[in-house]
Amino acid sequence: MPGNLLHSAQHFALGPKIIGMSWMLPDQASTYAPDVDNLYMFLVGLTVVLTVIISGAILYFFTKYRRREHSDPIPAHIEGSVILETAWSVIPFIICLFIFAWGAKIYLEQYSIPNDALDVYVVGKQWMWKFQHPEGQREINELHIPVGKKIRFVMGTEDVIHSFFIPAFRMKEDVVPGPNRYSTVWAEATMTGKFHIFCAEYCGTGHSLMDGWVTVMSDKDYEDWLAGGSGTGTMAEKGAALFTQYGCVTCHRSDAQGQCPKLEGIYGKSQDLEGGTSVVANDDYIRESILSPMAKIVKGFKPVMPSFQGQVSEEQLQQLIAYIKSIGPPEEVGAKSVAGKDTTKAHGTGMGGPPIMMTGQTPANSK
Ligand code: CUA
Repeated sequence: MPGNLLHSAQHFALGPKIIGMSWMLPDQASTYAPDVDNLYMFLVGLTVVLTVIISGAILYFFTKYRRREHSDPIPAHIEGSVILETAWSVIPFIICLFIFAWGAKIYLEQYSIPNDALDVYVVGKQWMWKFQHPEGQREINELHIPVGKKIRFVMGTEDVIHSFFIPAFRMKEDVVPGPNRYSTVWAEATMTGKFHIFCAEYCGTGHSLMDGWVTVMSDKDYEDWLAGGSGTGTMAEKGAALFTQYGCVTCHRSDAQGQCPKLEGIYGKSQDLEGGTSVVANDDYIRESILSPMAKIVKGFKPVMPSFQGQVSEEQLQQLIAYIKSIGPPEEVGAKSVAGKDTTKAHGTGMGGPPIMMTGQTPANSK
């Protein structure tokens, strides 16, 4: 982490000056940024103190035990000192454990994803960052988020490993290829302004150009920004159209007569699998089921689904997941008033989208 911060400080020193930057580090623009900096400054301080002590001792012994004209060339033999040796083992051990505990605390804070966060979907691609908001807005190398709100970044890559890095948030997470996982990280911005986004993993010749800006806005400005969007539909609506376009709807029938599992209400729920295991139907699992359908077969169903690897883009995957999420709230939030019926409707989407009917739907954006 200290290396990362130094890296970010160097990056920032070269970039344009934004809000009053401190003498050494970028703005502390997220809730956990001060914690990261405190640990970093502690490590720097400790390094300085130890360097002074050790260099001082070297210089002192250097002169004290220098070779003199009449000194005895063979010094007295020293057997060792239990007290000294114990001390120089135990004290650094305690210091290291203290640093470990402090770092672990901050790590857990950063990587425990809050449940009440707003989602932003990120796709890394040689060489740009693409963003999608659940409300439907899409951006490239520009990201708008509200201040004082927890944001969950759900990140995939279209090609190689990238690393999503916002120095001012002290937030950095690798985005790795593979069918069965998204990289997820969260942050809550504490100040409005414009902050740099970088790719922090060498990803080819255009790596150094793979950057952008996150604009942190007040609630009102953010609402205005969302309202001024392109109006092409929410992610869930786009996902619903893809669900029809790719023919998913013919098997995953909402009336449960398809040869594939019904998807209504599965999001966030545990699924029993063939072989006696189970899995929670989260973003990772749905992604894997689309790209590698054979990896996990739902109990009672045949492995008949074809892979959509190479057919569905990363952004479309995220839209499909948003759609499946929209037809299945993780908790019954009282929205399901008509028990047992009306399961084709989106309820409790949290997406702000209208109910999505599955039957007889034509793709809204078929290509
Ligand atoms: Cu993407 Cu470096």
